[in-house]
Amino acid sequence: MTKLSVNINKVATLRNARGGNVPNVVKVALDCESFGADGITVHPRPDERHIRRADVFDLRPLLHTEFNIEGYPSNEFVDLVLKVKPHQVTLVPDEPSQLTSNAGWDTKANLTFLTEVLERFNNAGIRTSVFVAADVEMVEHAAKAGADRVELYTEPYATLYPKDPEAAVAPFVEAAKAARRLGLGLNAGHDLSLVNLSYFHQAIPWVDEVSIGHALISDALYLGLQQTIQEYKKCLL
Ligand code: PXP
Repeated sequence: MTKLSVNINKVATLRNARGGNVPNVVKVALDCESFGADGITVHPRPDERHIRRADVFDLRPLLHTEFNIEGYPSNEFVDLVLKVKPHQVTLVPDEPSQLTSNAGWDTKANLTFLTEVLERFNNAGIRTSVFVAADVEMVEHAAKAGADRVELYTEPYATLYPKDPEAAVAPFVEAAKAARRLGLGLNAGHDLSLVNLSYFHQAIPWVDEVSIGHALISDALYLGLQQTIQEYKKCLL
């Protein structure tokens, strides 16, 4: 079964726009769970422009599903994750100023750094995932560094999908096969949507988890959160 982890950063962005507590990020996360989400993802950034450190601590004891914290492994981020002990940490290579993640790790060039960071999380019993492009060499070096899983960066798939779905998914199938051969778990995320998710899942049914934020929260404006989550879950059957 492929799990759906809902990334709630956008909900925090909306809340932060007015400085109060509307919408309530914790309530939305709990509602996502009760509507069928299998996990919640957050990406606390140093400038706290969406999810804040305090949100991460608030969410941890209340969630009933899998908690995934993603981010660049700065010292502050590593300390936060080790304190909070989520089920999974996803390492992304983005700079603090970036609008959103726009590339996977060069796991070959960063092998030593990633190996050291992953060891700290592995020793703490936190499952690790490394965000990579659909590139077999990057998957292989994530395995070498000691990752439990890779998360495939699906933006290039989403962009090409409307024109040529088969060509769009092909490199992802190859990278996913490499992950399976190496005994790595497999996640995927970025720009997945109701338009492109079913096809991706049919091509790679052994994906463990998809992490979806922007499109899902946007769809909820039209469909409501409950129906939206059910629609995304249907794409994963
Ligand atoms: N995975 C990672 C590593 C991300 O950084 C993001 C965006 O925060 C996502 C998944 C979700 O992407 P989207 O918001 O486009 O669904």
